[in-house]
Amino acid sequence: MSSPSARKLKPYIYSNFIPLIQKKFLCNLGKTKLVKQNLHIIKKIFFDTFLDEAFINLYKSFAKDISTIAYDDPKDTCLQVTPTPRVSFGGSHGTSIHTDYWYGHGKSAFTVWVPILNCISGSTFYSDHYNELGFDHKSKEFSIDLLNNLTPRISQDKYKVLPPESSCYIFNSLTLHGSPLNTTSKTRLSFDFRISKKDDDTSSKDLKNYFQYDYESQNYVSSYHPLFKKSVLKYVSNAYDKSSFVENICINATAEKYGFLISDQEGEIMRYGNPVFEAILNGYSLSKKYSGIVVFSSTIFSNQIIKRIKSSNIKVWACLENKFI
Ligand SMILES: [Fe+2]
Repeated sequence: MSSPSARKLKPYIYSNFIPLIQKKFLCNLGKTKLVKQNLHIIKKIFFDTFLDEAFINLYKSFAKDISTIAYDDPKDTCLQVTPTPRVSFGGSHGTSIHTDYWYGHGKSAFTVWVPILNCISGSTFYSDHYNELGFDHKSKEFSIDLLNNLTPRISQDKYKVLPPESSCYIFNSLTLHGSPLNTTSKTRLSFDFRISKKDDDTSSKDLKNYFQYDYESQNYVSSYHPLFKKSVLKYVSNAYDKSSFVENICINATAEKYGFLISDQEGEIMRYGNPVFEAILNGYSLSKKYSGIVVFSSTIFSNQIIKRIKSSNIKVWACLENKFI
């Protein structure tokens, strides 16, 4: 099998799921006026639809079809959990020319762009699908001038993305694309998402937190954090930036993202280092009711404490590094 990023896929893929997905969005949008003042309402309708169980089922089935085409087999692939909505108002600029690889997606990733409404000439985006512009992906040189130079070159009819009815556009992470200006008076609605090989070490995305393809059920399934719905102790060192502010925000947001149940909190006596945490490591007050401890970052600990954590059987999740210590 050739590597996915090197494969020349057909730009447009037909799917029976697309008209069903489009219908769902249009039905949820109802009579909402597609004007700038309603941007937050339109975005909310998008995100509410993404949470709708019927949509999620359609989305996973659709993505499975796409990954079968892109990789020959969806095995070992993962799927972005929440798609990215796009609302492009007439006369507005969209995204600058870029490749998704520049923004951290791995070389195995494909982006799937699904039109919803008014994806027509002038409102759509441009994509140099076969790198006809000869962009050198291996070049380490980068400057904003490069983008300024590429924008007029890509803004040509032949690069317009205009999928036929009931079709989407799929492109790999090294494809240059962007939507410099919506020259029409219409509001274009679309959404896009990424599929990727789950072990792509060129990706800087949190692929473990994507839907994972499960070969047994032949579907994408949620991957839960080992501490999901488990009782955890929140530990705040009070030493990062001499304040607890960043630590609190980061730990709370991480707990929400992964579904940790924070059942207790310990603040450190920071004037004396980490005596509270060391006492916890020694067994003090850490009853069996906690499945783990959540801390801001491994950088709040000395090497000696890190070693002790590693040799203990206490699970300590470091939010900033997004992994167990
Ligand atoms: Fe992009």
